[in-house]
Amino acid sequence: MSQKPINLLEYESLAKQHLDKMALDYYASGALDEKTLIENRSAFDRYKILPKMLRGVSQRDLSTTILGQSLSAPILIAPMAFQCLADTRGELATATAAVKLDLGMVLSTLSTKSLEEVANYGKKLWFQLYIHRDRNLTRTLVERAEQAGYQALCVTVDAPILGVRECDRRNQFTLPPHLEIANLTSMKNLKIPQTKGESGLYEYFATQLDPGLTWQDLEWLASITKLPIAVKGILRADDAITARECGAKAIIVSNHGGRQLDGAIATIDALGEITAAVGDKIEVLVDGGIRRGTDILKALARGAKAVLIGRPILWGLAVSGEQGVADILSILIQELDNAMALSGCAKLQDVAANLIKQL
Ligand code: FNR
Ligand code: LAC
Repeated sequence: MSQKPINLLEYESLAKQHLDKMALDYYASGALDEKTLIENRSAFDRYKILPKMLRGVSQRDLSTTILGQSLSAPILIAPMAFQCLADTRGELATATAAVKLDLGMVLSTLSTKSLEEVANYGKKLWFQLYIHRDRNLTRTLVERAEQAGYQALCVTVDAPILGVRECDRRNQFTLPPHLEIANLTSMKNLKIPQTKGESGLYEYFATQLDPGLTWQDLEWLASITKLPIAVKGILRADDAITARECGAKAIIVSNHGGRQLDGAIATIDALGEITAAVGDKIEVLVDGGIRRGTDILKALARGAKAVLIGRPILWGLAVSGEQGVADILSILIQELDNAMALSGCAKLQDVAANLIKQL
């Protein structure tokens, strides 16, 4: 492919030429048979758009407000670990691209640049928190995020242990020696280990993260921070309601991009029941398999207020750094704008449930 990619799928093919095997496998893979990874995409095909005609769509407005933060479009960058595997500037490049497009970015606990350094480049930043067994360390991470100006915490609840990604086991995934888990190495000298016959990241989760977490830990988190909390990894209406009762202001309907429990429901399918149950009592976001503007339109019609984009950001980063990420985001905005115009929606509020039908 000699020309610049014009869609996210082309970026994905091109990115494969820019990444070594261990990084590519880590980024691309899902758990076990990757059924959920595949379903996240294919499930979108079951929802058909019923476009409305003659609605006067010459002026279109994609802007929205999520957890009190204005965004140019209903799109945030999902938290993803180890972005320096794709680009030397890693998370700094991603954060700069998000600022350029006026979109949000969620920084992973497991970033390869420190949260303070990323805050020098990013604007509308949330910090994704992995609650570690060491609660003092966890509390310090929260305090650091608050001090650095992060505007929300995103606590990931679908990873009490890591899902089994077989290529990472085979590759004995670990970070190359020049990279570190910047937020943690500096504090406690924590590292992703090199483990025989196993993914070092699996081992890190097994030893450092707390599989004993319960809803009480969410209440604890809400009690130690003034930042709004988004709970990431919800797939059931009853859990969405409990999250709200425990103090969350948003939930992210997510199966971790098919990387945790294989066989878990596709997120576009899970969304409807959840948004019906919580109404507008809590903001509902969704991620998983979103590769086209029409996917975003469908997610909005199913009741999501915004979406998060995962792997395509890494493909953009691998192909051309900050510019690649900016391109990915611009393509999605343009595609969403186009889909809205063609379906008779001038603004996001026009994207109602009756715009789609599940076949
Ligand atoms: C992730 N994801 C993730 N989630 C999280 O809460 N903390 C993290 O550190 C990571 N790390 C991570 C690394 C990589 C390489 C990937 C691909 C994903 C999950 C991520 O936030 C998101 O839920 C999915 O990636 C969304 O699905 P798509 O867009 O990748 O299909
Ligand atoms: C992953 C972890 C870091 O999905 O969330 O690889």
